[in-house]
Amino acid sequence: MTFPALAGSSVVPIRVSVPGDKSISHRAALLAAIARGTSRIAGFSSAGDCAATLRVLRDLGVSWSMDAGVLEIEGRGAAGLGASGAALDCCRSGTTMRLAAGLLAWCDFSSELTGDSQLLRRPMRRIAEPLRAMGASIELTPEGTAPITIHGTELRGITYELPVASAQVKSAVLLAGLHAGGTTTVVERVTTRDHTERLLRAMGAVIEVAPGVQTTAVSVRAGELAPLELPVPGDLSSAAALAAAALLMKVDLTVEGVGLNPTRAGFLNVLARMGAGIESAMHTKVPEPVGDLHVHSAPLFATEIAPDEVPSLIDELPLVGVLATQAEGVTVVRGAQELRAKESDRIAGLVAGLHGLGADVEQLPDGFIVRGPSRLRSGICDARDDHRLAMAFSLAGMVADGDVQVTGIDFVGDSFPEFTALLAAFQ
Ligand code: S3P
Repeated sequence: MTFPALAGSSVVPIRVSVPGDKSISHRAALLAAIARGTSRIAGFSSAGDCAATLRVLRDLGVSWSMDAGVLEIEGRGAAGLGASGAALDCCRSGTTMRLAAGLLAWCDFSSELTGDSQLLRRPMRRIAEPLRAMGASIELTPEGTAPITIHGTELRGITYELPVASAQVKSAVLLAGLHAGGTTTVVERVTTRDHTERLLRAMGAVIEVAPGVQTTAVSVRAGELAPLELPVPGDLSSAAALAAAALLMKVDLTVEGVGLNPTRAGFLNVLARMGAGIESAMHTKVPEPVGDLHVHSAPLFATEIAPDEVPSLIDELPLVGVLATQAEGVTVVRGAQELRAKESDRIAGLVAGLHGLGADVEQLPDGFIVRGPSRLRSGICDARDDHRLAMAFSLAGMVADGDVQVTGIDFVGDSFPEFTALLAAFQ
């Protein structure tokens, strides 16, 4: 992947690596659990969310061990999961809950998926509806939230067009399709992260991706999975937070061995449009593109984020909001209403926090507007128990004139426990 030519920069460069990708780690663990044989997953994510996935798997009778950062999972085949004596606690991890639901839909026992109060507020009809169409028996609260009770049963393949651009929903349906009669097809109008598809291919699944003019159709058929030997690439979303720090502090940054999957790399395109020098040197392509990412600091300009690019940077939009406060011009984010259904309402939370620091920001129903540049002042930002907001506000604090206190900074551990320590290098 190549981005625009680099402006020269005279500052001392920083070189780091970031822990393994959270989205890939969840999927690798869940798929390894139903493969036949022992999988080895190196660089498994240190995120609290991925620890929740591993605990859920242990409660389902899956044996795994972690040694020197390598996760070894004993897969016992599709029928190898066993009923848990208690509700499965997904903590604050929406990915754990939604993807596990896809697997549990065909197990021959009943399960309950639950989690922290924050997760119990998030929408789950989006997975219940397609899984029910496949024949699954699923109970939610009247509000359409978890706890989710799943009575596993025989499933049939369906063709399902995603009503929301969500890789979690796509993956839940594909995982259910691994044990359904016939073919299961998910149709998406906007491509979402394709880690599930890539891992399934690497594990020998019968999977087909058919890109069309307006839509892409991803189809799977039932079949056994071979075990995985996977080095997990560095998490691009974590690298993105450090890239934003580098640009705010006007230092150059290299992140080694980071995932560069184009379905996740929208933030890099946006940074390049904002004027940053972005270069990446890819050294691996399969199953995931991996390489070194170079970020060269430069004056920042506003940009507009189009709805179609939102899924490729959905988790990085709070970072865009912070960068936009330091960019010349009006930054507009549209088509990002999904931000309101994340760990918190990220549109409301981001705008409230940045406004409190003196930024010129405005909420839209499906996004936000930032008029920059502005001098940020000291203040208290409430991260609303949301790791992505906590990181964004910490970065705002680096360029504010006075101290910024982030309420809920500890939640960064849900995705990037090393964030605060790594950020110290930029100050
Ligand atoms: C994820 C997909 C995204 C993202 C989340 C992780 C995944 O959610 O926001 O942090 O691993 O599939 P949606 O698919 O619901 O948009």
